[in-house]
Order: sequence, then structure tokens, then C-alpha cells
Amino acid sequence: MAERADGTRVVHAGVPDAAHGEPLLPGPEFASLYHLSGEPSGAYTYGRYDNRTWAAFEAALGDLEGGSAVVFGSGMAACSAVLLSSLAPGEALLLPEDGYPAVRTLAREHLAPRGVEVRYAPSGAEFAEAVTDDLAFVWVETPSNPGLEVSDVREITRRAHLAGALVAVDNTLVTPLGQRPLGLGADFSVSSDTKYVSGHSDLLLGHVAVDDGALAERLRTWRSTTGGIAGPFETWLAHRSLATLDVRLERQCGTALALAERLLGRDDVAGVRYPGLPDDPSHALAAAQMSRFGAIVVFDVGSRERADRFLALSELVADATSFGGVHSSAERRARWPGNEVPEGFIRMSVGCETPADLIADVEQALDRSG
Ligand SMILES: Cc1ncc(COP(=O)(O)O)c(C=O)c1O
Repeated sequence: MAERADGTRVVHAGVPDAAHGEPLLPGPEFASLYHLSGEPSGAYTYGRYDNRTWAAFEAALGDLEGGSAVVFGSGMAACSAVLLSSLAPGEALLLPEDGYPAVRTLAREHLAPRGVEVRYAPSGAEFAEAVTDDLAFVWVETPSNPGLEVSDVREITRRAHLAGALVAVDNTLVTPLGQRPLGLGADFSVSSDTKYVSGHSDLLLGHVAVDDGALAERLRTWRSTTGGIAGPFETWLAHRSLATLDVRLERQCGTALALAERLLGRDDVAGVRYPGLPDDPSHALAAAQMSRFGAIVVFDVGSRERADRFLALSELVADATSFGGVHSSAERRARWPGNEVPEGFIRMSVGCETPADLIADVEQALDRSG
């Protein structure tokens, strides 16, 4: 369905061909056991190896990503499948300084002790300059969580591939509807589908997309061997939710820009970042490689105390970690270790509420928290 627009593609992605008497989107396949006679052959032999609900969701994601997708039980299961199955002792890995902290923890606690050299470079446009010819693997998160720095995927992959290194892009913040890492040259597009892809804050899931059959096979073998599989019910829910991804992002990204513009006009809020803001330092690069700018807005309310008051005073914004759901949420990000952000730094995930109501609520909470 490559010639159709995103809104049409997400509605139809992974839906099987019409067959008389069959449902449009089949329900979840709950099975560990499949009938199997004689020597094992073909698909559907055991529930850790294959499942038709995964196959349908993977077909949908593969269509959107422009490659083959492999679904995992969480975003971190997807990240660890890529990193742990790709790197060998003596090889060097480059990670971004701003990005989801658990990826750095994984590298520090599970790759470095096994002889992988782990290096770091600042996220953003200059990240590409750290791609040297002695690397085996480059991990990019763009836009980054929580700093919203945008890295140049085309330039990173150009340099990495000259050196024979593989590149993975964590695309969680914008989904394949906002940015297609494989089309920009990356070897792996990685996502926590816990966030926008499923979008209702009711499940955890992740996926990896690749356009190389051998890499896809390696990831499937990794999944069935290590067992980090997705539950069929969560997978089915995510597939069902995918149909509204374009509609949700349309609302969420639009409100995020309007909110960011409103926050820029306030003199009691500093450090407003949103890649869609024309004056944001990341805007030019974001516009060159992304078709949507995501729905996370970050800002600094000046102190831990004011941040806590702001979060308590908002009536529509849940004080919660995670992001990407239809319900707006926000948190004081410095409450978690591993994030180099000011004490009053708020990471806000803009939901699907009516924009005027949400912006008014944020403004009243800021006014009263001051
Ligand atoms: C950018 C990014 N990547 C990966 C993950 C991990 O995803 P999960 O929580 O689904 O394991 C997260 C979680 O917040 C994230 O923000």
C-alpha cells in the first residue's frame, strides 16, 4: 500500500485479504501448543516460535517501516535483542548521552563486562562527528528522550557504513509515521510500542524493523531462544490501536506545537523545546528528516518545588512516567536517575484532549504554581 497516505495505510495495515465468513481483523491467537505430526516443519509448531497475531501485527509494522518487523514483549526487549545479538567482545559501541537511560544501563551492565567498549557522544547534530571508523555499532535515539535533540541519521549512517558499522535508530518518539529510519539508511528501526504505536497506556510492547532478511532471521532466532516474546492479547490490542495512529498523531502533534508556542510566550517558564518550533535549535534537521515532530514538549519551571506544585495543580495532565497515550501526562524528569536535566525540568506528553482545554489547564496550573 506504499502509494496510499499514512491515514489509510494504518487503518488497513496487516489486515488479511477478504475471505467470506472471516473477521476483518482476526482476534488474538492464544496458543502454546499447535498440532504437529512427524518431524517439525513449517511455521506454527510452538507458541514461543510463531503466532498468527504477531504475524499480522508484524506485517502491519513492516508495511509502515518499509522492511520486516519483529515484535517483542517491551521496548527494552527490542533494544536488548538488537544490541546483545549484534555486538561481540572487542567491538566498540557508540551511544548517545541523551536518550532512554535503560539503554546505557544495558550497555554498562551487560555489554561492557563482556568486553564491548562503550563510548558516548552528545546527542544532536554533532553526534555524527563522533562516528569514527573503529566502531562496530552506532545507537541513535532521535528525537532523544528527554532532551528532544535531533541527530542526523543520514550522515551517521553514511559514516558508519563506510566503517562497516551497523546503525540502530530508536524511533519511539515519532513512530514510522513521523520518521522512517530504514529509508534514511539505518540498519535497524527500534521502537517502544508501549508509547505512540499502541497509544492508550494499557500495555507494553516493542518492535525492531530491518530491511535485510538475515538480520530479521537473527532477531527472530534471538527472540525464540531468549524468550522475550509478546503476549498475543497485547499484540492484538496494539494492532487494533494502530488503526488510529495517524488520527491520534494529527491531534497530538498539533496541540504540542500550540502548547509549545504558548509556553514560549510566558516569562515564568524557561528552556521550552519542541522540534516543531521554527526557532528550536533542532528544527532545521528535524524538518529535513521527519514528517511529524512528535508530541512531547519539555520545559523548565525553575525548581523542584514548583514542578511538583504544577503537576499537582493540573487537572488534565497525569503525573506519570511514560508517554505517548491519549491521556496527557507529564513528570519532573529529574526524579529518575540517569537523566542530566534541571530539577524543575518537565517532560510533557501531549494527549488527545481538545487543545483549548488542555492548554488552558496547563496555563492555570502554571499560574497557580508560581
Ligand atoms: C526512547 C525509548 N526507548 C525505549 C524505551 C523502553 O521501552 P519499554 O518501556 O516499552 O521497555 C523507552 C521507555 O520509556 C523509551 O522512552
